[in-house]
Amino acid sequence: MSANIAIDKTKTDSEIYEQLIPSIKSLINKEEPLICALANITSVLKDTFDKISWVGFYLAKEEKLFLGPFQGKTACTVIDFGKGVCGYSAAVKKTIIVENVNEFPGHIACDENSLSEIVVPLTENGAVAAVLDIDSHSYSSFSEIDKNYLEILCTFISDNFQFRKGLL
Ligand code: SME
Repeated sequence: MSANIAIDKTKTDSEIYEQLIPSIKSLINKEEPLICALANITSVLKDTFDKISWVGFYLAKEEKLFLGPFQGKTACTVIDFGKGVCGYSAAVKKTIIVENVNEFPGHIACDENSLSEIVVPLTENGAVAAVLDIDSHSYSSFSEIDKNYLEILCTFISDNFQFRKGLL
């Protein structure tokens, strides 16, 4: 099942997330495979926020992150834990906001036009199961507001799906 989500883009980010999070929750069917939820979430986020140039999930396996469902240009497929913003977030199990990617040591530039980024880890039984990576073509696109709501979203996914069962 799927449904269109109508969002008023003239609102503030907080107001948009307040509308978006319950809409995403209602869109997701936890009886369906994980890949369906991840794919539609990337679509909704990319459609909703003009500041997003790329959004996707990397899935963790044996201390590596593998490219999963995403929206945007083609991206690097494998990132070691500890490498880049994604790998750093996975290693420290924390959300990382990067206002200027050129100032982040080891940033992996899949898209040379990317200027800022946020990465949110998803955990399962205490271990990192995936990260949500979002890029922007503007500096300082992501704030504590994005962190707050994206963490709520990622916790919802972790609470409702089992990554160890696989995508399908
Ligand atoms: N910039 C990320 C790599 C993934 S791409 O942005 C899609 C990083 O430094 O981990």
